[in-house]
Amino acid sequence: MLFQNARIENAEKTADFRVEDGKFLAFAEKLRPLEGEETVDLAGKLVLPPFIESHVHLDTCLTAGDPVWNMSGTLFEGIECWAKRKDKLSPEDIRQRVRQAVRLYARNGVQFIRSHVDVTDPKLTAMETMLELREELRDVMTIQIVAFPQEGILSYPNGKELLEEAVKMGADCVGAIPHYEFTREYSVESLNFALELAAENDRLVDVHCDEIDDEASRGLETVAARALELGLFDKVTASHTTAMHSYNNAYVLRLMRLLKMSRINFVCNPLVNTHLQGRIDTYPRRRGVTRVKELTAEGLNVSFGHDDIFDPWYPMGSGSLRDVVFLGLHVTQMMGYEEIMNSYKFITHNAARTLHLGESYGLEAGRPASFIVLDAENYYDALNRNAPVLASYKAGKLLSRTKPAEAELLF
Ligand code: FE2
Repeated sequence: MLFQNARIENAEKTADFRVEDGKFLAFAEKLRPLEGEETVDLAGKLVLPPFIESHVHLDTCLTAGDPVWNMSGTLFEGIECWAKRKDKLSPEDIRQRVRQAVRLYARNGVQFIRSHVDVTDPKLTAMETMLELREELRDVMTIQIVAFPQEGILSYPNGKELLEEAVKMGADCVGAIPHYEFTREYSVESLNFALELAAENDRLVDVHCDEIDDEASRGLETVAARALELGLFDKVTASHTTAMHSYNNAYVLRLMRLLKMSRINFVCNPLVNTHLQGRIDTYPRRRGVTRVKELTAEGLNVSFGHDDIFDPWYPMGSGSLRDVVFLGLHVTQMMGYEEIMNSYKFITHNAARTLHLGESYGLEAGRPASFIVLDAENYYDALNRNAPVLASYKAGKLLSRTKPAEAELLF
């Protein structure tokens, strides 16, 4: 199958590419159709590698207002709402919501998801169900699962054993939540435990790290130090790191050296953290978003995630990562021309590094023919006009297509 006139990753000139047996066979400025070959004219539209959701909680998504709405919008009322919803949690309930969320993502060009799944549950119901769904949905969505100890590893009964069990069951990544542990000592011990567990079992690590406005929350330095000492490096990701927003600059200067040595990844969740952080401030009120601009400038890898979709903690979300990038650029003040043009990398290449997708991702001959077509000439234009994803192909198979809306002006 031959795709013609694609504008690949903001290129000024168009190019053609051929797909065979689910893989990219060749890219060139012009490729001649073979006899009887099916051709698709992309008419100069933007072609990108598929979007990647690098941080979401699929086990809680699509539960906002059920049974009660979060009236204040705070994290704490969100936890109360979830406690009421948790009674209804069953494998069938999770299956239905996750399938629906995956369809929302799919229509927006997302083909890879890293989902955190709560393992502070003696029955590990969500983990078991998510592992089944990972297999069921494999052809349409690649799902990576993080064993996420929502209520702590040391501060929850049998927290260590539950995390170990989740890894044995087949979780791809080990999580932790140092800022939620009872004490600073527990926080450090929980990180030692999680990173050692990952090293022993050859898993990735993704820590909910310092998601708090407390400038004294310093789980990140422990995550980075252990990543370095255990030789895990970029297998480790620190998600949120919102406390870094509040750190003093002298400390950040010292920390940055360690971060660079550790080569860990970062995931910033601008929608949820601008919404939930800074709630105890009067004015000025903190933005609650980690230092994306500075981390990027230092060569560290940062991606953007949605975090929550229409649940007790975040009442919005339609599975579009465009919204995440759009707000992310505003709140991190990354609105220079090149920054806007290249911002798709937060939800493509950078996220692929975090998820360790390797050669299963990217627009290159020999790799799976997974790509999306946007109704725009370049990503600046796509982002600005909220251009729809016209088509999403995964390993050569068309997963979704969208007809752009037509407006008629009557003046
Ligand atoms: Fe999260």
